[in-house]
Amino acid sequence: MKIVLIGAGNVGYHLGQRLVEVGHQVVQVFSRTTTKAVRLARLLESSPVDILNSVIWTADIYIIAVKDDAIREVAEKLSQRLPQRALVVHTSGSTPISVFEGLFDNYGLLYPLQTFSVARIADFTSIPIFVAGNIDENRDTLFHFAETLSPNVYHIEEEKRPYLHLTAVMVNNFTNHLYTIASDILKDKNIPKEAILPLIQETAKKVLFHEPEDVQTGPAARGDEKVIEKHLSLLSTFPEAQEIYKHLSASIKERKNKLNGSHN
Ligand SMILES: NC(=O)c1ccc[n+]([C@@H]2O[C@H](COP(=O)([O-])OP(=O)(O)OC[C@H]3O[C@@H](n4cnc5c(N)ncnc54)[C@H](OP(=O)(O)O)[C@@H]3O)[C@@H](O)[C@H]2O)c1
Repeated sequence: MKIVLIGAGNVGYHLGQRLVEVGHQVVQVFSRTTTKAVRLARLLESSPVDILNSVIWTADIYIIAVKDDAIREVAEKLSQRLPQRALVVHTSGSTPISVFEGLFDNYGLLYPLQTFSVARIADFTSIPIFVAGNIDENRDTLFHFAETLSPNVYHIEEEKRPYLHLTAVMVNNFTNHLYTIASDILKDKNIPKEAILPLIQETAKKVLFHEPEDVQTGPAARGDEKVIEKHLSLLSTFPEAQEIYKHLSASIKERKNKLNGSHN
């Protein structure tokens, strides 16, 4: 397929490389920041563009990987340049495909559910890709296209997708925020971060084999109130973390109580 990649951020960087790796041709890379367009285009043996009006109109798929709030604006500008029949997709978990409504006849979604950073390697052979299309034909085209990028391709209904994205934020962004808080506390007390890394790994591994609820441990799950009070007092100099600790402990306790109630 001939692809125009719009956006040279984290997703553009990794998706672009995967496209080339499996044999697609990234004919152009657009970024409003010229240096970024040039850098990624060089890596993909492609042509850089920094003006949407210079995007070629003969590509098979236009992939928009820009910040969510800019998708509509970019699509509007593109629609002034491209034929209405062009197939245009975005890569956002949280933006409905109706963002393209009225601009193009053929549009959809190509959402790789993984956390991408330029500094990390992305292994697409283990990254699920979710697709959607405004009509069945586009959905099927995107499904087959996505299958060239990953062995794990799923169709996701538009009404279900917000829940998928919501849970992705919880398990990835929120968990990572807790790592950040933990790291701050360890730094403050001069304890090496490495001390908790095996625990992070084991916690993540456990859910591969068990229901998360079944392997919940810790003072809140046990009902060890004195330990909880102690922790809250230790967190008095970290008021934001104290609030989070309180809320999460209360939620764990409530869940445990419900579970115990249902077993009685
Ligand atoms: N990162 C992830 O883990 C991940 C995973 C799955 C899906 N996604 C989705 O993929 C999309 C891109 O995410 P990302 O992580 O690659 O973002 P990113 O690294 O922050 O890159 C965003 C890109 O959007 C461009 N941009 C921002 N505002 C723009 C505008 N008004 N006009 C034109 N370009 C604009 C930026 O250009 P400049 O560099 O010039 O500012 C940059 O190239 C988002 O929809 C996101 O939800 C992200």
